[in-house]
Amino acid sequence: MLKLNNISKYYNTGTVNEMCLFQDFNLSVEKGQFVSVVGSNGSGKTSMLNIICGSIPVDSGTIYIGDENITHMPEFKRQRRIGRVYQNPAMGTCPHMTILENMALADNKGKSFNLRRGTDKKRVDYYRENLRSLGLGLEDKLYVKVGVLSGGQRQAMALLMSTLTPIEFLILDEHTAALDPKTAETIMELTGRVVKEKKLTTIMVTHNLRYAVEYGDRLLMMHQGQAVIDEAGERKAAVRIEDLLERFNAISIECGN
Ligand SMILES: Nc1ncnc2c1ncn2[C@@H]1O[C@H](COP(=O)(O)OP(=O)(O)OP(=O)(O)O)[C@@H](O)[C@H]1O
Ligand SMILES: [Mg+2]
Repeated sequence: MLKLNNISKYYNTGTVNEMCLFQDFNLSVEKGQFVSVVGSNGSGKTSMLNIICGSIPVDSGTIYIGDENITHMPEFKRQRRIGRVYQNPAMGTCPHMTILENMALADNKGKSFNLRRGTDKKRVDYYRENLRSLGLGLEDKLYVKVGVLSGGQRQAMALLMSTLTPIEFLILDEHTAALDPKTAETIMELTGRVVKEKKLTTIMVTHNLRYAVEYGDRLLMMHQGQAVIDEAGERKAAVRIEDLLERFNAISIECGN
């Protein structure tokens, strides 16, 4: 289980721009749960993911994975247990390296840097098999530089790379936002498959309400650093896109927009 307990987070502390984003924020995500997160721009979704991944510190509160307090664990250590895919496909892959080198890099996550395993025949076959599972023909392009691939192909690789080592958590931040509708669909189907196969506890931020409704067994809507909707199980399954739109509009009116 992943737990955020009484998290407070301020930005620009001590300046005229100081803002409190989270005040006593709590979130418990059960093992194996797939949480879809929606919410307006600036509602705190990425900040929440950054807090989970250790990319930004909290001002108070504690973060647990199971019984382990990871509040002060550095990001690179958390990465051994947490895979992350960003909105920009360029964030999850190295453009100047080949597909094979990228796979070897991902395979060695958390270990001291070396690419030797990338040339190991068995390992190369393993990468090829994984790439084949994407159904994009990348298994035949091992020596092609990742920078020449399309955004969708790169994002598929980013997803594969982030889940290549045995992680427990998958963190997705608008990972289909930069893709055309058809490619976005492909990446979402792939995401659903990987999450299921690897039994990953997943938090997926998306502005695509249909994906939020169709995927996952829990749905959060964030607003000003709070979860204003939090539905799981059957109640989540019953949530419709119209319900979310209605809530968005109500919030927007409350905020005077
Ligand atoms: N590093 C930072 N320094 C100062 N303020 C920040 C920082 N990161 C985020 N914020 C502020 O915190 C608030 C929440 O930002 P965050 O990026 O978490 O929103 P979001 O829900 O991910 O939005 P979006 O849908 O646009 O990606 C915003 O008001 C933003 O300006
Ligand atoms: Mg964001």
